[in-house]
Amino acid sequence: MGSSKASCSVSLLQLFIVVCLVFQCFAKNHADLSTTLIVNASDASGKPIPETLFGIFFEEINHAGAGGIWAELVSNRGFEAGGPNTPSNIDPWSVIGNGSLINVETDRTSFFDRNKVALRLEVLCDSKGDNICPADGVGVYNPGFWGMNIEQGKKYKVVFYVRSTESLNLTVSLTGSNGVGNLASSVITGSALHFSNWTKVETLLVAKETNRNSRLQLTTTTKGVIWLDQVSAMPLDTYKGHGFRSELVEMLADLKPKFIRFPGGCFVEGEWLRNAFRWKATVGPWEERPGHFGDVWMYWTDDGLGYFEFLQLAEDLDALPIWVFNNGVSHNDQVDTSAVLPFVQEALDGIEFARGDPTSKWGSLRAAMGHPEPFDLRYVAVGNEDCGKKNYRGNYLEFYKAIRNAYPDIQIISNCDGSSRPLDHPADMYDYHVYTNANDMFSRANAFDRTSRDGPKAFVSEYAVTGKDAGTGSLLAALAEAGFLIGLEKNSDAVEMVSYAPLFVNANDRRWNPDAIVFNSFQHYGTPSYWVQQFFSESSGATLLSTSLQATSSNSLVASAITFQSSVDKKNYIRIKVVNFGTNAVNLKISIAGLEPNSLQLSGSQTVLTSANVMDENSFSQPNKVVPNQSLLKNVGKDMNVTVPPRSFTSFDLLKESSNLKMTGSESSSRSSI
Ligand code: AHR
Repeated sequence: MGSSKASCSVSLLQLFIVVCLVFQCFAKNHADLSTTLIVNASDASGKPIPETLFGIFFEEINHAGAGGIWAELVSNRGFEAGGPNTPSNIDPWSVIGNGSLINVETDRTSFFDRNKVALRLEVLCDSKGDNICPADGVGVYNPGFWGMNIEQGKKYKVVFYVRSTESLNLTVSLTGSNGVGNLASSVITGSALHFSNWTKVETLLVAKETNRNSRLQLTTTTKGVIWLDQVSAMPLDTYKGHGFRSELVEMLADLKPKFIRFPGGCFVEGEWLRNAFRWKATVGPWEERPGHFGDVWMYWTDDGLGYFEFLQLAEDLDALPIWVFNNGVSHNDQVDTSAVLPFVQEALDGIEFARGDPTSKWGSLRAAMGHPEPFDLRYVAVGNEDCGKKNYRGNYLEFYKAIRNAYPDIQIISNCDGSSRPLDHPADMYDYHVYTNANDMFSRANAFDRTSRDGPKAFVSEYAVTGKDAGTGSLLAALAEAGFLIGLEKNSDAVEMVSYAPLFVNANDRRWNPDAIVFNSFQHYGTPSYWVQQFFSESSGATLLSTSLQATSSNSLVASAITFQSSVDKKNYIRIKVVNFGTNAVNLKISIAGLEPNSLQLSGSQTVLTSANVMDENSFSQPNKVVPNQSLLKNVGKDMNVTVPPRSFTSFDLLKESSNLKMTGSESSSRSSI
């Protein structure tokens, strides 16, 4: 009995200690550290933030373009992906019908000089006689990029080139992934005479049903030889009618990017120069583009999304294009500076294409493509991540001299980092790329504190937390990036432009991880890193206010403040952004100095990005698990006490002038577009 009593009191004591520890730990996580943030909101203390500070970087990586924002549904539409030598691989096309019914192979009889490969279908069966074709016919199908998303009621324009030895009776149809189910179809018929030469066919298909995993079929039940080439299927409903997948481009538009850097990245360099992106091969009628194999990210692109389309995308987003071109340097080979002038001329021609007069040689091609007005090309980058390469400086200087001479206003961006010491060559800006772990990224909030303000400014054209900390897009990565971005915002007298990388990943071909926007043929979501960028969507062109954090004990807070005129309601706000990178909640006293009396409304809003676990991510099944949540801020004033949750990014928007900040009850706690 005695011993059982003793053990009982020992257990009670243990329980008491455990409860105390849990309580202490709980209390620690739920607000105890105190910090003051002083914001000087006087007009005199403000500094202008560059108009172009926040933008985006689009690289053709992870099928971001082909099978991504470019809405073309057919993959390998010109049968060129298997290379110029025939017979060749026609992947992902497949044959419908066995060898006794049809023979399919590539040959080099295309109508188009720059892409000679065409598909020859020798149909052995017929609608009568002793070798009867199956009722559904024989032919070929294309599954698109991991299945075509066909939606009920939507219209799809199918265009292809065809030639035939006999009269033609060809069914064009959208079906389920196994060929079953007719979503839409059209029959193309005509005499042998009519189709004896290459003929362009266009037909509009209207989907009767939705199927997320469809395919395009071209079939016949008539004997003869048919050639096919340049088979395209495009939805009619695209962003501004320019061929981009609307819901993906809307994600970009929501960031209000001030610039778009394109088309790479390593994509611009190539493993070998012969596989690098060359703008001239990507312009003109789509049927005439040869397409190319990107040997860094290891996939074929038909180049429907070419140089013109990138410039168009920039214009559609109201963002300035930043064209990165190859400077005669790839990952494995380099043009000697003595032989680089043809590459320089190629770049000059590209600038003329973008902004030359419609009567100029290359400007006239742009005009013929439907854009007589010049594009607003003001920035070019000479190469990507090539600074350390043997010929970079020599080549760079040739490009610099020629472009400065022909286009004195164009801003030229060097690949060499000038953040810690001056560049040894002339440039208007320099690239700064950083991929690192979360702690290091967060610490880089101070990376530009000591950078010289005299030389060219930084273009932080690629940044992201990578590796274990990032998972496939974690809150942890996003918070570290938020801290880094706050540092860049505060140093925007040394940093001119910033963009995350990479922007997109098709979940079926994850070549680089993580990415800002994840999609497949019909779904998409933003990673927390995407949502962090929305917090900065009003920063470009805003006024930076001076801030100082006074902590009673060490904590992991960084903060900045801006004033801006909202692009939505045109009212003036103060936005204070705070990252709490630590594991404790922080009681934050915000004191705003330098304001005129009564110049703040008594209500405002706060937007918080956080989650139960710092490694939480969004997914197709939970796209909104880690997204900003907006709520009313009730205690607005020049002195406010707020609690900043552990592992969070918060912005406080305070309305400056005496107009109403309207938030209805249903909006008071909801996912927000910042
Ligand atoms: O963003 C992914 C890659 O990272 C880019 O292609 C390259 O510039 C960098 O190394």
